[in-house]
Amino acid sequence: MKRVVVLVSGTGTLLQALLDAQADGTLGARIVGVVSDRADAGGLQRAHYAGLPTVVVPLDKDVSSAPQPPGAARAAWDAALTDAVASFAPDLVVGAGFMRLLGPSFLARFDGRVIGSHPALLPSFPGAHGVRDALAYGVKVTGATIFQIDAGVDTGRILAQEAVDVLPGDTEDSLHERIKVAERSMLVRIVRDWSPTERKP
Ligand code: GRF
Repeated sequence: MKRVVVLVSGTGTLLQALLDAQADGTLGARIVGVVSDRADAGGLQRAHYAGLPTVVVPLDKDVSSAPQPPGAARAAWDAALTDAVASFAPDLVVGAGFMRLLGPSFLARFDGRVIGSHPALLPSFPGAHGVRDALAYGVKVTGATIFQIDAGVDTGRILAQEAVDVLPGDTEDSLHERIKVAERSMLVRIVRDWSPTERKP
């Protein structure tokens, strides 16, 4: 059974979809750990309720009082995150609402085995506010994308997409909730069908 580690930063409803699929035997994988950059992430509670081990690797802006060269704190965080995830020996790493860019040491360690979900139809509306940006632009159709995470901002190989209509009167929250429904079903399907032997180019 392929081993999966899930990265979360927020409420964790995408993680919950994976946990629910695992519980009913339709995930075809075993979630072995949940890692977050935030101790207050709701996803960590969901992991605890499911009896899963969790690790928090906080990215503290002023990580130490000692002056450091630019990027040193970020590089240290990336290395710590890499070690935390590696401790679970995953076949696949899933970013489920993880709001940090994964650095070079992480991507080198888990090359080609890191996937994520974005609440827009990439390459449109990348970044931390995909739903808000799509709504502000006035698109009539947006959606969700599951992709292979690379060093860019939401620039990796697209694995699955699903369109979601923007409805009159939609707010960012109402639209995002409908997009998450699409994300959850696609994420379960991609994790289920992902093959450890299949090294993505
Ligand atoms: C998802 O829409 C994800 O694409 C975005 O943040 C949301 C996370 O939702 N990055 P949740 O924390 O899993 O409920």
